Amino acid sequence: MVQITFVEPAGAEVAVDATEGWSLMQAAVANGVDGIVAECGGSCVCATCHVYVDETRLAALPAPGEIELELLEEVKAERRPNSRLSCQITATPELAGLVVTIPPCQT
Ligand code: FES
Repeated sequence: MVQITFVEPAGAEVAVDATEGWSLMQAAVANGVDGIVAECGGSCVCATCHVYVDETRLAALPAPGEIELELLEEVKAERRPNSRLSCQITATPELAGLVVTIPPCQT
């Protein structure tokens, strides 16, 4: 298990034990975290799983792929340098303690 903390749009911090190998989106949805819509179920076509990753940990993540970068151009909420799609981030031990913030809207 990999502990990930999600900061919901209303400000509540929810610490979740994510199964290794799951995406952060899957962990959020499975634990009822508010604000991740994930319309496409993780197929990287909807961009409704947008999150802001703790900037101090950004370098620990694999770089976003081309499709993720294209989708990030279409997110509803403000796109920031630390914007990522949570369905494209895999929970690994290296990410333990990561904090991601969910933007105020997804659609
Ligand atoms: S869940 Fe659709 S792009 Fe991530």
